[in-house]
Formats: sequence, structure tokens, C-alpha cells
Amino acid sequence: MKTYLVTGGAGFIGANFVKYMLKTYSDIRIVVLDALTYAGNLATIETDIDSERCLFVKGDICDRVLSEQLFAAYHFTYVVNFAAESHVDRSIENPQLFLITNILGTQNLLDAARKDWVTGKDDKGYPTWRADVRFHQVSTDEVYGSLGETGYFTETTPLDPRSPYSASKTSADLFVKAYHETYKMPVTVSRCSNNYGPFHFPEKLIPLIIKNIIEGRPLPVYGDGSNVRDWLYVEDHCKAIDMVINHGRTGEVYNIGGHNERRNIHIVKTVIRTMRELLAENPEYRKQLKKKEIGSDGQISIDWINDGLITFVTDRLGHDRRYAIDPAKINNELGWKPETDFETGIVKTVRWYLENQAWVEQIITGDYLNYYEQMYGG
Ligand code: NAD
Ligand code: DAU
Repeated sequence: MKTYLVTGGAGFIGANFVKYMLKTYSDIRIVVLDALTYAGNLATIETDIDSERCLFVKGDICDRVLSEQLFAAYHFTYVVNFAAESHVDRSIENPQLFLITNILGTQNLLDAARKDWVTGKDDKGYPTWRADVRFHQVSTDEVYGSLGETGYFTETTPLDPRSPYSASKTSADLFVKAYHETYKMPVTVSRCSNNYGPFHFPEKLIPLIIKNIIEGRPLPVYGDGSNVRDWLYVEDHCKAIDMVINHGRTGEVYNIGGHNERRNIHIVKTVIRTMRELLAENPEYRKQLKKKEIGSDGQISIDWINDGLITFVTDRLGHDRRYAIDPAKINNELGWKPETDFETGIVKTVRWYLENQAWVEQIITGDYLNYYEQMYGG
């Protein structure tokens, strides 16, 4: 049976990946290793954890002893490394934490895997490896830097990270490449564009806008809102990672994206419109609104949910202008294509948040409230 070590499996994409894999395959076992930082929530995967197909270990990817113990106990077939500090704004405030988790943590996992997976040496002194293993690094399009008005990131675009977050992710990618070149370790790397969907922590743009509307707060847009991101529904990302792990060529990088470029201001206006439409169609959802003004029809009013909520705030330092992925390699080599277009995905996402406010309430700790105060000043 294939056994996966999924690090960061209690976070946004990792948890969606765990659910996707358990739904898709009956003959695999997953061990989730997650430190449960502010971004990790065990409740997200609570119903997936059992004592057979999905196990949970609370721990840090930087912990050498624990990593080696896990490899010795489970002899993993695959490592899928999602665990990371993932928020650019936080990396501007505290870069060192990003170096520790994203670089040292990745290197620690590479070493633990090497210790367990190497079977001997070839005649040139290179390690020989178990035939069925693979280390997969979940990376980001941010390693390529920022685009102008035209062009796309391909796998050969020079690396040009610009934030502490992207510098740490780029370093991690280079360590993965170094282990492949130096030790012939079987690895793959995938670099994806911005994800959205269920279980997204509300410090990131889309869930933050949804949460602020529910709370009747202003909607902060950095700069003039014209920066562009390339959005992908999270389950499409999970499918792509599964394909890369199982069918991608070892030593290769695969870009993942669905040609869904949008200006931030467009995203925010789309969320406002979608929210209004869903609240208009389904008055039950209005109970989630914290602002309970009663309209002339006797129902909780939604008239105030409009573009007037948008507030332009100080821009992010070093704010990358535009990201856009060219997914030709993964399309052509592995036949992957995104299945959820943005218009469908955003409705699914807003609906999910309206129906799962209990999840949001649960993850909002004192840490989030302090962070919000510091970032947006009330
Ligand atoms: P997230 O912040 O939602 O989740 C990160 C998870 O990692 C959390 O569960 C957290 O508890 C865990 N974690 C953090 N530090 C840890 C440590 N030292 N040891 C063990 N666990 C630790 O992040 P996400 O958005 O799900 O991103 C997952 C991965 O995908 C990251 O590597 C990120 O760089 C990459 N990525 C994210 C996006 C995106 O749009 N969110 C796009 C491309 C790539
Ligand atoms: O491109 C992939 C990356 O996407 C991942 O590697 C990161 O882990 C992930 O966090 C995401 O990074 P971004 O910085 O693009 O995501 P974020 O949701 O923070 O911001 C999206 C855009 O919206 C960005 O241009 C900044 C802007 N923004 C963000 C916030 C939180 C605002 O205008 N207002 C906000 O309040």
C-alpha cells in the first residue's frame, strides 16, 4: 500500500488534498504531519482521521528526531510537502520564521527521506534509491517574481523572488533540486498560482473579503486594486499534484494554473455581487450577517452590501504586479486541465463560507484578531 506523508495537511490546500486523495483512492494511507500553527486547524480534517487510512501527528517539520521516527515507522512512499508559512504580509513582518519553516523544514524532511530511502551506492558513488519513492515539493508561482502587462511564467522563467516569503520558497525549491542533482533523489516540484475554495484562512484576500462582508466591515484593497493574480479552484490544484506525483517525470518542475487572471478590484467586486445574489436568493443565509438592520420588507437588509464597502488602503511593500501561469507543460505531458471556471468556483466558495461560519469562528483566535488590528488598524 502506498503511504503518503502529507505535511501541512491541516492547512488550506493540504486539507483539501487529504480529502481529495481519500475520496479518490481506497488503497492508500496518509500520515498528516502538522504543527497546528495559527493557520492549521485539526477540525478541518477531523472526520478524515481514523486509525487506518488517515493518521495525524502534531509536530514540526524542523524536528529531526520526529521526522526520522516517522520514516522509520511508516517507510513512506511519497512525501508531499505543503507545510509552510504561507502569507506574504506576515513574511514582511517576520522574515526569519519563514526561513526556519520553509527552508530548514524542507531540508530536514529531505534528509529524513534520504536516510530511509537510500538502498546503497552505485559504482560512481551516487546513492541508489528505493524504486517506488518520490519527494514532492509544493511550491508557488511567486518564485518567478512579477510580470508586466503581458507574458506568462513558464518552468524556464528565471527565478526572481521579491518578498521574504517567495525568497524562502525559492530557496526550498533549490534545495530540492540540489538533492536531486547531488544525490539523485527522486523529486518533483509544482508551482501553482493563487488558490481559492473551502477552508481558506481569512487572512487571504477572498476569505477576508467574505468575512468582512459578514461582519459589516470595510473591504481593504491594497494600492489601487489593479494588481493581477491568476486564480485556481483548490480541488483542481489537488488533482494536478496527484498527477505530478504519480505520473510526472522525476527531477522536473510543473507549473499549475488555469488562465484565470483577474485584477484584485475585480475579485472584490465579484465577491460582493456573489454574496448579494446568494443572500437575495436564500434569506436563511442572512442570519449569518452580524449587521442585522431590518429592511422595509421586514427581512434582514442586504442593501448596504455594495461596492461602497471597498476601502483603498496602503499598498503592500514590494507588491508584485502581476502573476500569470503558462500551464502548457502539465497540460501536454500529463493531460491536466482545470475543471472549475472562476464564475462557478467563486459561487461554490461564497456559499461554502455562508454555510460554514462555525469553521471560521473556530479558527479565529486571539492571534488573528491581533494580526488584523496590526495590519488594518481597526
Ligand atoms: P496554510 O498557511 O493554509 O497552511 C500551512 C499549514 O502548514 C498549516 O496547517 C500549518 O499549521 C502548517 N505548518 C506551518 N509551519 C509548520 C511547521 N513548521 N511544521 C509543520 N507544519 C507546519 O497554507 P496553504 O495556503 O495551504 O499553502 C500550502 C502550501 O502551498 C505552501 O507551501 C504554500 O507555499 C503553497 N502554495 C499556496 C498557494 C495558495 O494560494 N494558498 C498557492 C501556491 C502554493
Ligand atoms: O501566487 C501564489 C501565492 O498566492 C501563494 O504562494 C501564497 O501562499 C498565497 O498566500 C497567495 O499569495 P498572495 O499574496 O497573492 O495572496 P493574498 O490573498 O494575500 O493577496 C492576493 C492579492 O490581493 C494580492 O495582490 C494582495 C491583495 N490584497 C490582499 C489582502 C489580504 C488586498 O488588496 N487586500 C487584502 O486585504
